[in-house]
Parts: sequence; structure tokens; C-alpha cells
Amino acid sequence: MKVASTKLNIDVESIRKDFPILSRQVNGKPLVYFDNAATSQTPQQVIDVIVDYYSRYNANIHRGVHTLSQEATDAYEQARIKIQEHFNAAKPHEIIFTAGTTHAINLVASGFTTLLKEGEEIIVSTLEHHSNIVPWQMLCERTGAKLKVIPMNDNGMLKMDEFDKLLSEKTKLVFVNHVSNALGTVNPVKEIIEKAHAVGAAVLLDGAQAAPHIKADVQELDVDFYAVSAHKMCGPTGVGVLYGKEEWLQKLPPYQGGGEMIATVTFEKTTYADLPHKFEAGTPDICGGIAFGAALDYMNSIGFNNIAAYEHELLEYATEKLMQIEGLRIYGTSTEKTAVISFNIGDIHPYDIGTIIDKLGIAVRTGHHCAQPVMDYYNIPGTVRASFAFYNTKEEIDIFVEGVKRAKNMLS
Ligand code: ALA
Repeated sequence: MKVASTKLNIDVESIRKDFPILSRQVNGKPLVYFDNAATSQTPQQVIDVIVDYYSRYNANIHRGVHTLSQEATDAYEQARIKIQEHFNAAKPHEIIFTAGTTHAINLVASGFTTLLKEGEEIIVSTLEHHSNIVPWQMLCERTGAKLKVIPMNDNGMLKMDEFDKLLSEKTKLVFVNHVSNALGTVNPVKEIIEKAHAVGAAVLLDGAQAAPHIKADVQELDVDFYAVSAHKMCGPTGVGVLYGKEEWLQKLPPYQGGGEMIATVTFEKTTYADLPHKFEAGTPDICGGIAFGAALDYMNSIGFNNIAAYEHELLEYATEKLMQIEGLRIYGTSTEKTAVISFNIGDIHPYDIGTIIDKLGIAVRTGHHCAQPVMDYYNIPGTVRASFAFYNTKEEIDIFVEGVKRAKNMLS
């Protein structure tokens, strides 16, 4: 992505010491972890919070009068407030804890079953992850609504003039990712939101790939829903949040029935709890929520401007080095990009490159990255995807580039 020429203010050697996993060996070589878009690694500060929770105050929340339950409830609700402040939501109850981005999107898709009518339209983009396509297709099947798709161009950018043509008074919902997981493209989300709102449509942004790199301000964006996963942001797997504007969360019906989401239950009628509990049936991942708060503290202590500037340097360095390899093509060359490089070399299968460089201790993702429409656009089965985080280094990129060259020589 484009970043202001910020003076680098990041001590990577010291940061790396926070991540125990980064000092392990894989196949007898030092780990080079470039699969951060799939999941990020966890600093000791977050691991300590998890250990502390299970060692000292593991208890169910919102239910007990006893001290442990109150401590766990306080820590969980404090984490909600940290997340609210991080994304600048207006109110803590606009933050719904979920099992991750996929769960958050399905919650909204399920809720719109009662709000959409046959013939109304939903817009998604070609760049979407399957988790931001399939729930809407299922919603269309349930309601008779129609799915429309914003096309992309060769650079991996959305064709905004085509988006304009898709918008009409029939458009009720627009769903796009803030950043493409497959290519790293940063989408023009502010423009998308403004245009969607102009025809009266609500907008959900899949923020899973943006949140580790860009501090989204949901009020400034004026977005209706924003979904993220903790595990992309130095937190644990299995937890995330849905931000929803209060007015929308009031309109949507509950997603799941169960304990904790009710006000009163009789066999004749149940009434639902207020936000956010209406959407939080059952015992949640309490420790995960608390650890998500700790992960945000950790990332904010480094600073998102510092993270973005440093990762941009890594992206430029790696792009330049990789482009020197004959036959290598990078997919996704948007001017606004996070530190993701998707590539192929000639007709070598990405899986083969990934397997060989794994033997050298290098972790990348290969395949369609749960974004088959993007691969179909380029008419390829998949790519090798290297995705960087603020704890990666140029030295690691050198090792990676040498590994890719070695794989190319073996497979050509
Ligand atoms: N959605 C994650 C990725 O892009 C898993 O790898």
C-alpha cells in the first residue's frame, strides 16, 4: 500500500524476541514464516495472558456471583472496550464477539433472510474470499435476491465504473473485502461505502486481511458492518468480532438461540437480551476474547503507522528481488497493496514450489487461497503466496528468494 514517507521507527530484532516460534527450526533450518495472511504468530505477551487466564481466573462470565466469574467477566468486557476503541466504534455493544470473520459474515447473512425480498440485489466483488461469497449465495437461495459481482482488472483492482453500473434502487447490500487475501489489493472502500449508501444499501467490509495492517475507523468509514479475526492480528484462532452499527444490530434477528442471549424464556414466548448479548448465545471463547484485547495492545504498542511503513519496505524489497527471477509473474500489482506477493513461475505448479521451500524452512501458502474467482480470472489453478508481517526481515526475504530460485532450478 502507499504509505507516507515515515521514518522507520521499529526495532525488528527486539520485536522478534517477543515471538518464541520465530526461533524454532523447521527441517533443520531457521523458520522463515511468510504465511501471515493465513494466520499471524503470537507474541509472548499474548501467550502470557492466555496462561494467566487459565492459571488464575478461568470461569464462566455474566453468570456467577463468585470472584472468579466477576474477574473473568471484567476482563472480557474490558477486551470488548479495547476492541471498540481500536476500531473507533461509537458504543461497546456494537462489538459482537464471534468465532472469527466467517462466523461474523454468516451472522449478518442469516439475519438478512427476514429483511431481503425477492428481486432485490446484493453486490459482492470478484476479489472476495469464499467466506464473503458463499453465505450471500445461500442468502439469495433463501430469499430470491440476486447476486451481482464487481469485476476486476489485470492489476487485481476492482472496476469501479462497473460498480457504478451495478448500483440501483434494487441494491440492498454491498459486501467487499477491505484487502484481498489472495492479492493484497487495498480496495477503495470509502468510495464503495459512499456510493452504496447513496442508493440506500448497507455495506459489510470483510476486514480480516486489512486489520493486521490498517487501523480501520468504522465511524470515519461510515461502514455498517466490519468483520475481523483475532488470529490475523497476533491473537488466538477461533475468536473475532463483528462491528455493526447499533441501528442495524437492532434490526437483525438473533443468529443462534441459547443461554445468555435471552431476557425471559417461557414455552409460550422468549424475549431477547439487549445488545451485544442478543448475538452471543452460549459460552464464548472467553480467554480468546481477552487475548484478542492483549494482541491489540501489543500491536498498538508498536504502532500501525510503523507497521505499515516497515511492511511496505519489505514488500518493495521482495518484489524487486523476485522480479529478477526469469519467468516469474506477480499477480496483483495494485498501487494500494498490503505486503502480500502472489506469484507463479512459468507453468510450475505452486504446490511444488511450496513443498520444496518448506524443506528449506520457509512457510508460504500455495493454492487458490479460498478465492477461486480470482484464480479463474487469471486462468490459473493457484499461486504461491508470500505474506509478510512486521516481525519479518529483509534477510528472511533473501533466504526466501534463494529458495524460490532453487525450486525453480529443480522443477524446470
Ligand atoms: N483466509 C486465510 C488465507 O487467506 C486463511 O490464507
